[in-house]
Amino acid sequence: ARKIIIDTDPGQDDAVAILLALASPELQVLGITAVAGNVPLALTQLNARKICELAGRSDLPVFAGCDAPLARKLVTAEHVHGKTGLDGVSLPEPAMPLQDQHAVDFIIETLRREPAGTVTLVPIGPLTNIAEAFRRAPEIAERVQEIVLMGGAYFEVGNITPAAEFNIYVDPEAAAEVFASGVPLVVMPLDVTHEAMTSAPWVEAMRALPNRCGPAVASWTDFFERFDKEKYGSKGAPLHDPCTIAWLIQPKLFEGRRINVEIELGGTFTLGMTVADYWHVTDRAENALYMRHVDRHGLFDLIGERIARLP
Ligand code: BDR
Ligand code: CA
Repeated sequence: ARKIIIDTDPGQDDAVAILLALASPELQVLGITAVAGNVPLALTQLNARKICELAGRSDLPVFAGCDAPLARKLVTAEHVHGKTGLDGVSLPEPAMPLQDQHAVDFIIETLRREPAGTVTLVPIGPLTNIAEAFRRAPEIAERVQEIVLMGGAYFEVGNITPAAEFNIYVDPEAAAEVFASGVPLVVMPLDVTHEAMTSAPWVEAMRALPNRCGPAVASWTDFFERFDKEKYGSKGAPLHDPCTIAWLIQPKLFEGRRINVEIELGGTFTLGMTVADYWHVTDRAENALYMRHVDRHGLFDLIGERIARLP
């Protein structure tokens, strides 16, 4: 199984991504590292533990990482995810502990310990923890197998500003460092995740599963959907973050291009924009496999089939 560390700010769609990973024998989750993003760190680390317990995986180590972006004040998204970050289902206070070790130290230590090229990082929140790990231990970058992240937007423009997607916007300096790190990147921008829209029959099928995770996914989706409905008039909820995990399991579901992506750090209106050279109009070096389309039916079949395996 491919070894991964999920770096996350749960988040209903983060929760589905974590469940999908835990249900998939192709992946071995070494740990979950929480970062401030959708809601502050105190909630994201708590939510991460609640999700592990829901999945029956209280053995999994969960670490708290950076509580603020590298150089800016934290911007959160309670307007999307609710006050707890995980509104829609009320889960019990977790009994499993939060690890004492800082998430950044866990990332560094794991990459130093495991054979080079065998650990994949899956960041599905702002990139603060990853950038901080590379700052503190630059030599670990070349030991990372791949970074498969959710972030950015190009054809679909932004969701937190007209130009920027949330995860990149919250910590653009961290994103710029990760995109310049030389680590092979797979990027799931809004261009593909806005195709990953739940349908009513799929949500009902999740609700009808004879386990506890299926109905939880349905209720999270219901909550998450209301924002996209009001904002974009779309039917369904975009399952942004699960696209990263789905790609690791079934890459053929996705279509994209190797291109250069730069992060805008100035700009009057464009801070945090992912400037994607989709048509290769510059000679800037390719640094990302930038996804554009997903086979929606295949994606939801996969997620549904995997959630059904959980408790
Ligand atoms: C990203 O921002 C968060 O709100 C979601 O969890 C996802 O990671 C989408 O822009
Ligand atoms: Ca997220």
